[in-house]
Amino acid sequence: TGGLARAIEAFRAGEPVLVHDADDREGETDLLYPASAVTPEAVARLRNDGGGLIFVALTDAVAERFDLPFRHETVDHPANDHTDLGYDARPSFSLTVNHRDGFTGVTDNDRALTIRRLGEVSEDESYGVDAFAAEFRTPGHVHLLRASPALLAERRGHTELGLALAREAGVEPAVAGCEMLDDETGEALSTADARAYASRHDLAFVDGATLVGGL
Ligand code: 5RP
Ligand code: ZN
Ligand code: CA
Ligand code: ZN
Repeated sequence: TGGLARAIEAFRAGEPVLVHDADDREGETDLLYPASAVTPEAVARLRNDGGGLIFVALTDAVAERFDLPFRHETVDHPANDHTDLGYDARPSFSLTVNHRDGFTGVTDNDRALTIRRLGEVSEDESYGVDAFAAEFRTPGHVHLLRASPALLAERRGHTELGLALAREAGVEPAVAGCEMLDDETGEALSTADARAYASRHDLAFVDGATLVGGL
């Protein structure tokens, strides 16, 4: 569809794309960018127009190279139980990080630095856990997400949808994003309102089924 071709083109150009997962999953639309394209202005857009958690999704191969665990596999606490999650078998959360050259890590400048460098180093095959630890510290203010190894064949969260789009666009295997929330209702932004936001800002909007069918 036009939506898919446009989304691929946009990602290739470092522009944001709106991705809705599915009505029978989270039913949320995330604003996504290739990580290397994230500027301080983009972080401000993610928190002002998105409003959810700002994250960077990494492929399984990159997460493996940086030795990034799934958070639920490393926490020994009785609250670490996801059997009632409702929309998926497990979360994709890994560590939270800050770039060491930032200060608190939360400002638009600091988060943009963290996110942009994650994008750059995700492409460097020789960059391993020691380099990662020398450049980033945990805990921090950017949530890392780890994708399933088989991407869309195994899980169809925004984590995998964004990385499948990145692969198709030929950009790095690191996607930054944030859920679009609705300040009026206290809920996730409706699909109709997310589409309206996309057209108002001349951005691509694509849904999970289109990505699964077309990639
Ligand atoms: C982290 C989340 C978001 O839903 C994000 O879209 C990634 O998760 P998923 O792959 O489960 O959709 O929970 O902000
Ligand atoms: Zn979620
Ligand atoms: Ca807002
Ligand atoms: Zn999601």
